[in-house]
Amino acid sequence: MKPAGDKAVGNWLLLLAFMVFGMVVGGGHVRTIGAGFAIQTWQPLTGFIPPLNAAAWNHMFALYQQTAQFQAQPVTLEKFKALFWPMFWDRNWGRLMALVFLVPFVVFVWQRRLPRRLMVLVLAIFAAGGAQAVFGWYMVRTGLAPGMVMPSPLWAAPHFLSAMLIFIWLLWTGLSVKRPAPPVVEGLSWLRPWALASVLLVFVTMGFGALVATTNAITMFHSFPLMDGHLVPPGLFALHPAWTNFIANKATVQFFHRGLATITFLTVLTTAVLGLRGGEKYPGLRDNFLLLAGLVALQYVLGMATAVLGAAGLGYVHELNAVLLLAAAVCALHGLRGATPRRMLAPELAAAE
Ligand code: HEM
Repeated sequence: MKPAGDKAVGNWLLLLAFMVFGMVVGGGHVRTIGAGFAIQTWQPLTGFIPPLNAAAWNHMFALYQQTAQFQAQPVTLEKFKALFWPMFWDRNWGRLMALVFLVPFVVFVWQRRLPRRLMVLVLAIFAAGGAQAVFGWYMVRTGLAPGMVMPSPLWAAPHFLSAMLIFIWLLWTGLSVKRPAPPVVEGLSWLRPWALASVLLVFVTMGFGALVATTNAITMFHSFPLMDGHLVPPGLFALHPAWTNFIANKATVQFFHRGLATITFLTVLTTAVLGLRGGEKYPGLRDNFLLLAGLVALQYVLGMATAVLGAAGLGYVHELNAVLLLAAAVCALHGLRGATPRRMLAPELAAAE
C-alpha cells in the first residue's frame, strides 16, 4: 500500500459500505411493507431479469401462493406485484454490490495495489457478503414453512446485525486504507474506551431494535418512559424457556430496547461531550463528535416518537438513522487511532494543559 494511503482503494471500500447502507434502505422498506417472502426463487445470476410475460408472472405468483403469509392473507396478482418489485430491486442491489466489489477488485489486483494482507481481508469481507446473501435466502425460504407469516426474529435480527458487522468492517478498512498512518491526537487515548463502548452499545441496542421490529412489538406500549403505566411491564419473562422471551415476548424486547437505548444515549452523549472538550485542537475530530451528539439525540427522539405514535414509517427512519449513528461512532473511534497517552505530551503542551 502507498505510505500516504491509497485513495482509490479506500474510496472503493467506503462506496461498498455506503451500498450496505443502501441495502438497509431497501431491506427496511421490504420489511415495513411485509414483502420479505414475495420472491420464492433463488437464481443468483439470472434472477436480475423480472417476469416478462403473463405466464412468468403467474409462475411467480403461484410460488408465493404456497407461503403461509399468502394463505393467512390472500392478495390479488396486482397486490402481489406491489410486494414483488421492492424485493426485486433489493435483490438486484445485492447483485450490483457484487459487481462493484468484483470489477475494481480485479483491476486493483492487476495493478498490484492490494498488499497481501489487505487482499485477504477484502476477500474475507466478500465471503461474508456472500454468506449474508445465503442467510437472506434461507430466511425467504422459511416463508414456505407452515404458519410462518413473517420472517422469524430468530433469523431476521442476526441477519441485520451481520449486515452491520460487514458495514463496520468495510468502513473501518476503507478509512484505514485512505490513512494508514493515523494522525497524532495528543493526550486523548483515555477517550478510546469511551468511543469503543459507544460503538458496542449502539450495535447491541440496534440488535434489540431489530427484535422490537421483527416481533412487531410496535403494536404495544404507546407511552414513554413508562410502559402502559409500568416501569417494568408485567409478564416480562412470562414465556418458558426464558430465552424465548427475547424472540416472542413484545414486553421483553421493548423493555430491553428502551433500557439499553437509555444507557447508550447517555454513554454516547458523554463520549461526544468529552471528545468535543478534549479534541478542541483537532477540527476533524471535533466535527465527528458533534455529529455523534446530534445523531444520538435524534435517534432517541425518533425512538420515543415511534413508540408513542406506533408509527412504522417513523420506525423505518429510526432504523436508517441508527446506521448513520453507528457509522459516526465508528468514525469517532477511528479518529482516535493515533491518540497518545497524557504522559507522552510534549513538555510545552503539558504545561499548557
Ligand atoms: C441509541 C438509541 C437507539 C438505537 C441505536 C435504536 C436502534 C433501533 C433499530 C436499529 C431499530 C430497527 C431495527 C429493524 O428495523 O430491523 C429500532 C426499532 C425500534 N426502536 Fe429503537 N433505537 C434506539 C432508541 C429507541 C428508543 C429510546 C425507543 C423508545 C421506546 C425506541 C423504540 C423503537 C421501536 C418502537 C422500534 C420498532 C420500530 C418498527 O417496528 O418499525 N428506540 N431501534
